[in-house]
Amino acid sequence: MNRLFIAAMAIMLVCACSTSPNINTTTPHFEKSGNKTQFIVNDEPFIMRGGELANSSASSTKYMRKNVWPTIKKMGLNTILSPVYWELIEPTENNFDFTSVNELISDARKNNVKLVLLWFGAWKNSMSCYVPEWMKTDTARFQRALSQNGEKQEIITPFSQELLNADEKAFKALLENIKTIDKEQNTVIMIQVENEIAMLPNARDYSALAQKEFESAVPLQLIDYLTNNKETLTPHLKKYWNGATQGTWTELFGNNIYAEEIFQAWFYATYVDKLAAAGKAVYNLPMYVNAALNRAGKLPGEYPSSGPIPNLIDIWKAGAPTLDMLSPDIYFSEFDYWTSPYFRTDNPVFIPEHQFDATVGAKALYAFGKLHALGFSPFSIENPRDKNNPENEEIAKCYNLISSITPLLNKYRGTEKMTGILLDKEKPSDTLQFGGYQLIAKHYNTLSWASNKNNGTWNMGGAVIISPNDGEYIVAGTGIVLTFKPLIKNRKAGIISIDEVKYKNGKEILGRRLNGDEDHQGRHLAISDESWEVQKVKLYTY
Ligand code: DGJ
Repeated sequence: MNRLFIAAMAIMLVCACSTSPNINTTTPHFEKSGNKTQFIVNDEPFIMRGGELANSSASSTKYMRKNVWPTIKKMGLNTILSPVYWELIEPTENNFDFTSVNELISDARKNNVKLVLLWFGAWKNSMSCYVPEWMKTDTARFQRALSQNGEKQEIITPFSQELLNADEKAFKALLENIKTIDKEQNTVIMIQVENEIAMLPNARDYSALAQKEFESAVPLQLIDYLTNNKETLTPHLKKYWNGATQGTWTELFGNNIYAEEIFQAWFYATYVDKLAAAGKAVYNLPMYVNAALNRAGKLPGEYPSSGPIPNLIDIWKAGAPTLDMLSPDIYFSEFDYWTSPYFRTDNPVFIPEHQFDATVGAKALYAFGKLHALGFSPFSIENPRDKNNPENEEIAKCYNLISSITPLLNKYRGTEKMTGILLDKEKPSDTLQFGGYQLIAKHYNTLSWASNKNNGTWNMGGAVIISPNDGEYIVAGTGIVLTFKPLIKNRKAGIISIDEVKYKNGKEILGRRLNGDEDHQGRHLAISDESWEVQKVKLYTY
């Protein structure tokens, strides 16, 4: 009775606190035409300038109000990724309490940000640590995954129908609650299903339920996908699938650890697909899963096995077609290496987690420009290096820039007219053919007069580059120097003009004409690594 009363009050509170009622807009959705995917929110294309909360922050509204909202307000974010904890919303079976979720939605509205909710359900980073007490303690009903040596894990086996039933019930109740309080305003714009799903400490589960499936035939749904997408499969699958179209997992993929990983990935993907479909049937929000990446030189199980990692994207696409995308969490260097496999026509790019460090600003620019990303999100966003001045974070400066060029990003996403650059000490230059010229991009520190050159500081450089017409470029970036060469032999490229520009509500506002020292007497376009700005250059050949 008490709980129901509190929930009803929370719903009333959320409704009363609506700051921007966007009544009657369509439910947030992905709109795809050709190579272009737009994320439509409140009937407009939306780009997520995101940040993900540290795992435990959203478990206390009081903590959020004191420590989180005031900090993140200053970083130019328009989206917060926040967990929803199964253990808190269903403390006893079938009794749901959405107070914390509803308070979060209400506070997000007050702070003028959207929410991506992360369902910390059956698994969070492989483990079943967020399932409620009544599940944790009932190991007869919710059977555990077993390691190869027969040890029980704190992971409920994905082969358990009881687990799926309970997970679906809670997930549907969550979506029903969101729909009830939010279908008109759309503060909640997307759902992450589970978190970094993967198996440990071996490549697969060895429980009796899993063993039975492992000895069975590979399902037709997977074989059809492999057959229909034979040419474009990831190199890993091309290597391990022997082309056979019937048989067991080892008969198709070999008697090796990767066959086990593929098997486990299939059953995770199909589990998630059922969960996502059940949730979407209640409230059709876009849904995705995030990946804990595999470590170079480690075997499945040494790294969290079977998640939607680059090697297994096709298994996940085949098993979970209901998902709108698969998204990598980046905690390693080599940003391009890890993210580019996700840039596919069947998969828009979203970086839901990136270690919150000084590189995130430049990497976000690269993600929006080169990978045509729909969003980016450093992890533990409420913990900037300087808690008193979060606006000094590179991500804040980047998001200011991204916010101003959002109409351009939306216009050129999915076209050949937008690309990105990422430069650092290890890769101080890059060359690309783009917009009718060859572009030579160098890090700002390559200039002899760069002030950071001598003190050894290498702020990462990056840019979104858009070429509306051949020989014209809009460069939104930091720490880069661009020179140009024509594609025609025996000619040279010259700069007609460079203008400093800003954008306000999609309108271009010209600033200074940049010439003389600012473009090295017509030799290059330069943006210092201490600055985040947009310049527009027009070229000619002679
Ligand atoms: C990745 C997980 O998805 C996050 O929830 C968090 O645990 C981070 N790792 C911590 O680095």
